[in-house]
Formats: sequence, structure tokens, C-alpha cells
Amino acid sequence: MTERHRRLVRETSLEPSNLILPLFAVEADEHFKKAIDAMPGVQQLGLNGILKQCEAALEADLGGVILFGIPKHKDEFASQAYNEEGIIQTTLRETKRRFPELLVATDVCLCEYTEHGHCGVIERDNNGDIEIVNDKSVELLVREAISHAEAGSDLICPSDMMDGRIGAIREALDASGFSSLPIMSYSAKYASGLYGPFRDAAESTPSFGDRRSHQMDVGNTDEALRLVQRDLDEGADIVMVKPAISSLDIIRRIREQFLSPVAAYQVSGEYSMIKAAGKNGWIDEDRVMMESLLSIKRAGASIILSYFALEAAKQL
Ligand code: PBG
Ligand code: ZN
Repeated sequence: MTERHRRLVRETSLEPSNLILPLFAVEADEHFKKAIDAMPGVQQLGLNGILKQCEAALEADLGGVILFGIPKHKDEFASQAYNEEGIIQTTLRETKRRFPELLVATDVCLCEYTEHGHCGVIERDNNGDIEIVNDKSVELLVREAISHAEAGSDLICPSDMMDGRIGAIREALDASGFSSLPIMSYSAKYASGLYGPFRDAAESTPSFGDRRSHQMDVGNTDEALRLVQRDLDEGADIVMVKPAISSLDIIRRIREQFLSPVAAYQVSGEYSMIKAAGKNGWIDEDRVMMESLLSIKRAGASIILSYFALEAAKQL
């Protein structure tokens, strides 16, 4: 068969509109730019850089971008996460003013905003062990989501994994006049070593302990389906799985069992591995990039969050 024939019968195709580009917005001078060592090509950016990336995303016809915020000030209650003048809120207003047609999604979590880097409010129990206090954390996540909605977010993406947060956020959005604003939930999020480079990029490495109490054990599959079911019942519009390449079976099972769209996050470590091997000449970087994205699509994801989004769109 020639390429003429192969394209005629190819079952899976990838479009720029399937891709969402993650961006790291820093509360700093608008010209601020800082490379992330473990993620060649990815930078922490001040407002100018963010706007440039948004323009590129529009030109490449990407599905959209997702914003992560890096605040100047972190505290126990993640106050900058829901401050009207916070880094995400100000960046959102400006990007939506400049590029109203661009889909701008926002990550809703507290770990970039807490001084300890955990995804919620923490307390010590009687044994001195730390514990993330679920309901107090959900309260703050709701405030964060509403402030994103008010600043113009097109898609609310809770990544914290607290119990009951999707229902609480949905209810609050509905009550505040945002009943048609969709939620993309990080529903099945494995406790993975592949988030390492992101935590440097987002400056959210926990200063003690880890996230195993609220992220999924890598050995489980049924649990992922239960979490998806729960989030859909609570009102999620799109469910997300992460990491992507190590969860292709999960993506497929969700695709077959539920009728909602599935998203997959090709996380920082997945990106870094391909970049590193590519830079060393050990693999053909462009080829493996496209192969990984197409495999994620083939598994059943219709949306892929990827640091390769712009590079991949250029090849399409
Ligand atoms: C924040 C969040 C993380 C990622 C997305 N949102 C970090 C984590 O869970 O530790 C990971 C993304 C990546 O590695 O690229 N809760
Ligand atoms: Zn978090």
C-alpha cells in the first residue's frame, strides 16, 4: 500500500482542534520569561509571553490553552487562588479581551497557591500526621472556580481530586449565572512519578509528604471507572485521565463504558522523556511525538492536553 492508500483507510486522525496547550502564567513583570530545565521549549511566562502563546495557539487552530498560575505570594489558605486580582484572574481577563475566540481553560487546584504545595488545606491529626481537610478545601476550590468563571474562563478544570468538589463547583456555578460553563474534571489521576517536571514548572512540589492520599494507585483500574462515574453524576461534562501513555487501557475502558467525551493529559514527564531522548539522537523526536499523540487518540481520547500541542499542530 502507498501513502495514498494508507490515508484512505486510516481509522484514527489527529486534528489541531483536539489539542490543548498548557501555559504557566507567572505573577511578575510582563516581560518575564524563565526556561524550565526539564521541559525544553516550555517556559514560565509573564503576560506578554502568555499573549504570544495564545496568539500562536489561535493561528495553529488549537482546541485551546489551559492556564496554570504561579503567584508571588503563597499561604496556608491559598488566598491568591481566588483573589479577583490574582495571576489567573488578571491573565484570563486580558487573554479573553485580546482573543475572545480562543478557548481558555483554567486549572482549579490549590497546590500552586499553598505555602506547603499540597492540593488542599492541611491539618495535623493527633498522631502528628498531616491530613488534607476535604470540606474546607472544597470550599476554597469553589471560590477559585467562581473567580475563574467571573474572569472569563471557558472551561473549569478541577485537578485536586477532593471528594465532592465537582458537585459543589457545579452547584455554585449554576447559582452564580454560569450554568452553561462546562467542567472538565481530572477524574482519574494516578499518583505518578511523571508529574516531576511540572512541579518545578508550577513551583508546587509538596514541601513534605506526597499526594498519594488523594491520587490513584497505579495498580487500579476499576477505581478509575468509579471516579469517572462519580464525577459524571456530580455534573462533569468532560472527564480527564492522566498520565496519558501509561493509562491507554483506562482511556479505552472509559470510552467504551461512558458516552461523555474523554480527555487525556500527556503530562510533563511524558514530554520530558521524548524531548530528552530526541535531543540525544536516541529517538526521532517528531515521529515519537506524533506516534504518542495518535495512540492516545486511538485509545479513545478526543481531547489531549500536551506541551507538544503547537509543535504537533505544525506537522498536521
Ligand atoms: C495540579 C496539577 C498537576 C498536574 C496538573 N495539575 C500536578 C500534580 O498533580 O502533582 C500535572 C501536569 C503535568 O505533569 O504536566 N494538581
Ligand atoms: Zn494540586
